[in-house]
Amino acid sequence: MIMRFTDKVVVVSGGAAGIGRAVSELVAAEGASVVVADRDEALARETAAALPSLGAPRAVPVRVDVAVEEDIRALAEVCRAEFGRVDALINNAAARLWGPVTEATLESWHQIIAANLISVGLTGKHLIPLMPDGGSIVNVSSANGIVGRKGMAQYDATKAGVLGLTRSMACDHAEAGIRVNAVLPGPTLTDFHKNRAQAEGREIDLAVTRPHPGGPGILRRQGLPIEIAKPIVFLASDDASYMTGTLLSPDGGLSAVSGHIG
Ligand SMILES: NC(=O)c1ccc[n+]([C@@H]2O[C@H](COP(=O)([O-])OP(=O)(O)OC[C@H]3O[C@@H](n4cnc5c(N)ncnc54)[C@H](O)[C@@H]3O)[C@@H](O)[C@H]2O)c1
Repeated sequence: MIMRFTDKVVVVSGGAAGIGRAVSELVAAEGASVVVADRDEALARETAAALPSLGAPRAVPVRVDVAVEEDIRALAEVCRAEFGRVDALINNAAARLWGPVTEATLESWHQIIAANLISVGLTGKHLIPLMPDGGSIVNVSSANGIVGRKGMAQYDATKAGVLGLTRSMACDHAEAGIRVNAVLPGPTLTDFHKNRAQAEGREIDLAVTRPHPGGPGILRRQGLPIEIAKPIVFLASDDASYMTGTLLSPDGGLSAVSGHIG
């Protein structure tokens, strides 16, 4: 096992479930102390409790709503008090909203922009001061930040905004030795989707992560959380030391083709 995160502190927003949990587990296995920053306090505690057995020297759960600046300020205080530093910040937490703009309200716009875009700026504001030379920020956007689709206009707009923010933050903080990159996942099957299907009385077809006719992208399937977490962890690590302001697309080729390939 390569240990790229020995003596490092990694903060993962939305780190208690889905892609974020897979990131928490991967960096733990490579020696990181992990701050699991999640709105779901019980799940954050449960995830953090599992990380030492994987290899994390320490794992600290923190209840944070990334849309709330007071919560992010408090998160920075915990990081300062517990570790005195943050080596990598994974901005992974996000809200979802469905429907076209004709169904959006001013309130829904403000809420999703706060949760998905302003949050990235706010974690940067409060955590970059704790990052040493060599620090790394990974912003989780979406394939639909660069490719259009029907049904999630507000969400997709925030994910496009994250890309602009990523590039400009990369410019602003390069002199301090901090790299800033984005990962653009394609459709990825997480517990969220399984729980949503269950709540709606639908059966979720787990075979969507295997190639199937009409499946998304070139690979004609959805991704697994671990398949998104690995590129995130790569960008967070020193293996990506010459990469900043860039976009990495673990999306099964979704953004490389137009429409379904069969
Ligand atoms: N799963 C996909 O198909 C997919 C595709 C493209 C992009 N993404 C992006 O990947 C990231 C992770 O998605 P996922 O599918 O693993 O999500 P998920 O719903 O499975 O997990 C998200 C985690 O974030 C937490 N969270 C949600 N809102 C929060 C907030 N305001 N503050 C703090 N924590 C909050 C939740 O409690 C949960 O633990 C998101 O940025 C999402 O937009 C996901």
